[in-house]
Amino acid sequence: MFRNRRLRANAIIRNMVRETRISKDSLIYPMFFEEGENIFEEIESMPGQYRMSIDRCDSVIKELLDAGVGAVMLFGIPKHKDEVGSEAYHDHGIVQEAIRYIKENYPIYVIGDVCMCEYTSHGHCGILKGYDVDNDTTIKYIAKIALSQVEAGADMVAPSDMMDGRVSEIRELLDANGYENIPIMSYSAKYASAFYGPFRAAADSAPAFGDRKTYQMDVHNIREALKEVYDDVAEGADIVMVKPAMSFLDVVTKVKEITDIPVAAYSVSGEYAMVKSAAKNGFIDEEKIMCEMAVSAFRAGADIYITYYAKELAKCIDKGL
Ligand code: PBG
Ligand code: ZN
Repeated sequence: MFRNRRLRANAIIRNMVRETRISKDSLIYPMFFEEGENIFEEIESMPGQYRMSIDRCDSVIKELLDAGVGAVMLFGIPKHKDEVGSEAYHDHGIVQEAIRYIKENYPIYVIGDVCMCEYTSHGHCGILKGYDVDNDTTIKYIAKIALSQVEAGADMVAPSDMMDGRVSEIRELLDANGYENIPIMSYSAKYASAFYGPFRAAADSAPAFGDRKTYQMDVHNIREALKEVYDDVAEGADIVMVKPAMSFLDVVTKVKEITDIPVAAYSVSGEYAMVKSAAKNGFIDEEKIMCEMAVSAFRAGADIYITYYAKELAKCIDKGL
């Protein structure tokens, strides 16, 4: 007789036949570093997440390491913004200093987010020409930013600007400077999503005019995402990313099918904010929802999961979820 329920009888057999197992090794935690001193400011729409100065990051890093999270991805919020985002590639910029400090003091893997929007006065992810971003000028800057982060000690760089040709531009500049062993995780299929709202408020990086639709992808498309992935792989990307995660799991699955390099999924600020606010109202069980979302990304095919819940997830993994 058919009995699908036989293997659901108790936790031992359920766990034995579990198809998706998730590991702390796959988690990356995003952090926001702000120029200044003694800053540890909670982001209003992201309770539990902070904009911090370098002198206040120790407890955060220690808690991550204690929980078993081994990798962070850094975003910088400079005091000074200008047309060309010059703080983004400054040797003593906020992210470069944060990378230096963390690498000197902790055994944690540090990834630099490479973009310009937090550093430009107009909030776009590149150098403007009229009212649009000039692709080929921008990728020269993107490569310079990546190099400056690697010189500061970054273990990996992750370009999130969505310009064409940035991966090969970065690869060439890193190689020319002797950094042929530094991997590139490309935000390959990055959609023009409304889920980045809380991040832009946190990083003060919303575009001053227009939107990002001339560079980030149309949310209606999936074959275009595969084209982006093929291009990035050809240009030398070591890891490809799909972003956001939860509303683009079909893309994660497809990308996993067509590539033989690792796939990362980024559960973005809006996903975190939704869970936090629903949980605050008592409408959902935060821990269970957080775990279910993570499992869904891995089930879809993600090898790496970037999440603001990294520490809490690691603790759940210890408990067996
Ligand atoms: C910057 C960048 C953004 C995010 C990561 N890198 C925002 C954007 O593209 O507007 C979003 C992260 C999040 O929402 O958690 N290019
Ligand atoms: Zn950007």
